[in-house]
Amino acid sequence: MPVLVRSFAKINIGLRIGPLREDRFHELHTIYQTLDFHDLIKVETGQGIGIEILCKNPQVPVDESNTCWRVAERVLRALNARAKVRITIDKRLPVQGGLGGASSNAVATMMALEKALKRQLKAEDRLRIAADVGSDLPLFLIGGTVLGLGRGEQVHALEDLPPLDCVVAAPAIGVSTPQAFAEWDRKLTGPEASDKIKTFSQSVYDWLSGSRFSPTGVPAKGRGQAETLLLDLVRAGIANDFESVVFPKHPSLREVKRVLERSGAEYASLSGSGSTIYGLFAKRSKAVAAARVMSKSGVLAQAWKTLPRDQYWKKLFSS
Ligand code: C5P
Repeated sequence: MPVLVRSFAKINIGLRIGPLREDRFHELHTIYQTLDFHDLIKVETGQGIGIEILCKNPQVPVDESNTCWRVAERVLRALNARAKVRITIDKRLPVQGGLGGASSNAVATMMALEKALKRQLKAEDRLRIAADVGSDLPLFLIGGTVLGLGRGEQVHALEDLPPLDCVVAAPAIGVSTPQAFAEWDRKLTGPEASDKIKTFSQSVYDWLSGSRFSPTGVPAKGRGQAETLLLDLVRAGIANDFESVVFPKHPSLREVKRVLERSGAEYASLSGSGSTIYGLFAKRSKAVAAARVMSKSGVLAQAWKTLPRDQYWKKLFSS
């Protein structure tokens, strides 16, 4: 029986890049948030050996370099299992878009393969395999609102944000994450980066301990919960460091962010290293209208919702 898994996107609400480490990765601090926008992964197992990947999108590699292939190989090894594995990727998320599509696909493959083989990995093996394949994989083992530390692979479940209206604009530009990090190194290194990363935790704390966790739990007068939360997010100064290297290289992306802000986004930002730009809105109607304006201007945009943890797990195996 084929196993179908939804492979959800993530956005980064703030991303601070720290110094280059000895292992050539950068220390980073970020908040990941899963979105109700997904690819579909189908995993089938049969007799024999070998891993096969099928995907109609020519931008997706179907060889050993695909994150799904790399995870499947490690899962088979960890379970000491022999099987022919076929993985079909129905691609809807932008490729190289900063929405973690390839990472999410890989974690969805892990979950589907365990189910197809009727075997379960230990939680620590799942985490080890995910972190081994990429820094952005472990967050998808938690879902919802997640704090990412280390090189992004050290994940901690945060108290979930309520579902927020989120417009995702996907310009037809692919940004290579390693190249964006290299550009960052050319521009900014040393104590400045270390200091910036230190302030991130304080900003996150200020934001999350603000309106949402106010002693009364009552939002400021005349404002809804989403609006108060987003205003506090702006006030906390949480930002994505990649913007300072990606925007000068692709000025049209800065304009996409401005269009979202002008359309009423309370908070807009590049996600990961881009090129996706998202906007968080206090009202659904504004988000839908903004997506329409954006699409009319020639940049594909859609209104989604952020996906809290319980919903993430509920929807994962439903086709
Ligand atoms: O971990 P992942 O495979 O996604 O990383 C891809 C590349 O991005 C790494 O090889 C590295 O060049 C860069 N990277 C980094 N610092 C991080 C995460 C990724 O420099 N924290």
